[in-house]
Amino acid sequence: MDHLKIHHIGYLVKHIDKAAAAFKQLGYAAASESVWDSHRKIHILFMEKDGYRIELVSPADNSSVISGLIKKYKNSPYHICYETPDLDAALAALASTGFTAIDAPAPAPALQNRRVVFLMSPFLGMIELLENRLPG
Ligand code: NI
Repeated sequence: MDHLKIHHIGYLVKHIDKAAAAFKQLGYAAASESVWDSHRKIHILFMEKDGYRIELVSPADNSSVISGLIKKYKNSPYHICYETPDLDAALAALASTGFTAIDAPAPAPALQNRRVVFLMSPFLGMIELLENRLPG
C-alpha cells in the first residue's frame, strides 16, 4: 500500500468557528471556505500549517453521523485520511488485511465530490480513504 498518501488529519470540534480561531492563533490558515455536508450533517473546514492539512469537522445537531463520536472523544483528532489513485482496489486490499468498511464509498462535498470511505482497524481505529481524481 505504498501508493497511499496522507491527505489530512480529521479533527472533531464542537464549535467550528471558535476552533478555527484557536487554530489561527497557532499559525494555521484556512485552506477552504466552511462547507456544509448535508449527507453527513457536518460542517467542514480545511486549514493548513507547515505543509500539514487538518480537517475541522463539527456536527450540526444530534442526528449527525458524528454526534456520537464527539460525545465520546470531545474536541480531538479522530482519523487520518489517505489519498489513493484507486479507491476500490485500496478498499479491497485493506479489507483483506483486517480493516472493516463502516460505510459505502460516497462523494465528499468538501473535496470536489471525490469519493471517500471510512474504515476501522482493531489496532489503530478509524481511517479514511480519498480517491485521488475527480468523479466522472
Ligand atoms: Ni476526513
